[in-house]
Amino acid sequence: MTNEFVSFPGVSALVTGASRGLGRALAEQLGAAGARVVLVARAGQELERAAQTIQARGGEAHALPADVARKEDIYAIAGAAAALVGPIDLLVHNASSLGPTPLRLLLDTDCEDLQKVLDTNLLGPFRLSKAIGGSMALRKTGTILHVSSDASVSAYERWGAYSVSKAALDHLSRIWAAELRERGVRVLSVDPGEMATRMHEDALPDADPSTLAAPSDVAARILRLLADPRVETGSRVEAQKWSAL
Ligand SMILES: NC(=O)c1ccc[n+]([C@@H]2O[C@H](COP(=O)([O-])OP(=O)(O)OC[C@H]3O[C@@H](n4cnc5c(N)ncnc54)[C@H](OP(=O)(O)O)[C@@H]3O)[C@@H](O)[C@H]2O)c1
Repeated sequence: MTNEFVSFPGVSALVTGASRGLGRALAEQLGAAGARVVLVARAGQELERAAQTIQARGGEAHALPADVARKEDIYAIAGAAAALVGPIDLLVHNASSLGPTPLRLLLDTDCEDLQKVLDTNLLGPFRLSKAIGGSMALRKTGTILHVSSDASVSAYERWGAYSVSKAALDHLSRIWAAELRERGVRVLSVDPGEMATRMHEDALPDADPSTLAAPSDVAARILRLLADPRVETGSRVEAQKWSAL
């Protein structure tokens, strides 16, 4: 699937978890569609390569190594991103942690491991939305996208820590949407479905990658739904089932 009909000219976008997998595909496609993209992840070299790929294709991209789970990094991310590309129009909360693998039953899950998953998957997005959402509300424009999972609604054994973080993220998305609706900020949650990425391999190493969606195909769908004004704020969309309304 390609995005020849979708464009984001001059849009300032911040994508977390953009060094590989779905986040990288989203950043690459946003860059190709005219957005000015800031890419965040922890591992600097992998992230730099992702940004260089976008630049080599004529897009604007900036690598910003940071850890969304670290409270101290959040205002640094928001400040640097605004300095690089201006006020953020599109904030994509994609970075995510499974917690320890092999995945564990709840009875074997340490509270500290649950805390770390929540720090990355829930508190990081909450803090970053607080740091950037105010500017969106003042300007009465902007979109915040939370990348969720089917694990937020289905109770899969051994996916406890990750699942509760994504269930909370979905509801956080709905509440942000309710509170920012009148301020012109659109807030969405998307379940990308199963994709052939490192996270999937870490969780389910025996899965056949040929049965999984390519992150680039899912990213293309997500850009289309972002570009479709009929997808209402507060929606939770399953990307692989979504087609233009
Ligand atoms: N793959 C699937 O089948 C699937 C299914 C449902 C939902 N999802 C969701 O889709 C999203 C993308 O997943 P993916 O499969 O593309 O994962 P992935 O390939 O493992 O990529 C994860 C990205 O997040 C970054 N990251 C992780 N922790 C971070 C932190 N604390 N701070 C900053 N960046 C961090 C990673 O880079 P560093 O490690 O260098 O930081 C990497 O760029 C996630 O929200 C995931 O929950 C995936």
